[in-house]
Amino acid sequence: MESRITTAARVAEIAPFHVMEVQTAARALEAAGRSVVHMEIGEPDFPTPAPVIAAAQRAIAAGDIYYTSALGLPALREAIARHYADHYGVAVPAERVIVTAGSSAALLLVLALIVNRDDRILLADPGYPCNRHFVRVLEGDPVGVPVGADTQYQLTADLVAANWNSATRGALIASPSNPTGTVVPHDEMRRIAAAVASRNGHLIVDEIYLGLTYGTRPRSVLEFAADAFVISSFSKYFNMTGWRLGWVVAPERHVRDLEKLAQNLYISPAAPSQYAALACFDPATLQILETRRRAFQARRDYLVPALRALGFGIPVMPTGGFFVYADCSAFSHDSEQFCRDVLQQAGVAITPGLDFGHYRANEHVRFAYTIAQDKLEDGVARLSRYLGH
Ligand SMILES: Cc1ncc(COP(=O)(O)O)c(C=O)c1O
Repeated sequence: MESRITTAARVAEIAPFHVMEVQTAARALEAAGRSVVHMEIGEPDFPTPAPVIAAAQRAIAAGDIYYTSALGLPALREAIARHYADHYGVAVPAERVIVTAGSSAALLLVLALIVNRDDRILLADPGYPCNRHFVRVLEGDPVGVPVGADTQYQLTADLVAANWNSATRGALIASPSNPTGTVVPHDEMRRIAAAVASRNGHLIVDEIYLGLTYGTRPRSVLEFAADAFVISSFSKYFNMTGWRLGWVVAPERHVRDLEKLAQNLYISPAAPSQYAALACFDPATLQILETRRRAFQARRDYLVPALRALGFGIPVMPTGGFFVYADCSAFSHDSEQFCRDVLQQAGVAITPGLDFGHYRANEHVRFAYTIAQDKLEDGVARLSRYLGH
């Protein structure tokens, strides 16, 4: 008999990650003996740097396994603040840095701080899918603004102005973006910050991929917008996805409220992960990470022209992260089916645009270059054969 015990309606609105379904299908093929080139996975293939693992082992051996302050270890907050000064040339007081359980928790805390029921938050479509779900869980209204190559797949000040109304509380931008790898030009970010501020709104900038920027100097919005919420993470640049550690830099007046939320939602970020992360800023670790950043850049420099030569549309060169968002309309107007076919017939796993929104999602797929160069080359060769080149 069907249960009459109900769950909250909001759950029905949370879409699963299609990429997980791709991954499950890929694993099933592998279990059946087929080889699959994984270009769907959104995390670095590099292991956590050895100095970071050693720091975690020392912390656990020393018994540093207790709850920390909800705001994070003071030494880690200081280290993150120094990182902004050393790498991005911006002075950020450590008091404004809040260490969180991944940037996922940082996004949730900030949105919980600002979103009331039915409040609108402007997001780029395509964009990182969890953001709209966070807003929905809070009973707000995530507004996906269609963006294309003409605006580097990013919101602009004009789009913010055109989509703002009295129920809009803020705009959330990821730069570099997942899935497009594109960056909001610095001057445009300045105009966006002004557009949001003049409407008494909140600007949230997800800079989780800022450390992985290629060919241009990475610049934080904190250079000029002390009032922005900046989200970041140890997951991607620091190769620590499973350690669940991120941070938010918040305007000082909001730190106390964010602390209350963190205390109640998860008490504190994981202690061993925080002790480990202290080693992220050692010169030896940063050197390892810089070598890996260059490896990602070399992969991008190979993959983008190779995909273009196959007939995928990539009108804007991605300059950050590890994703390429490609127009597949030369081959299919049903990107979900296209991904299924490519997996089954070519043995290449890629993610359909549907994971990132609605706007022309059926004509786009995401490639992740989180695999070694020789595997990328294998993937491209398989696609080439499949597409009849
Ligand atoms: C743009 C963006 N923001 C946030 C996250 C969440 O990452 P984490 O919670 O591991 O820091 C991701 C993960 O893929 C992402 O792509």
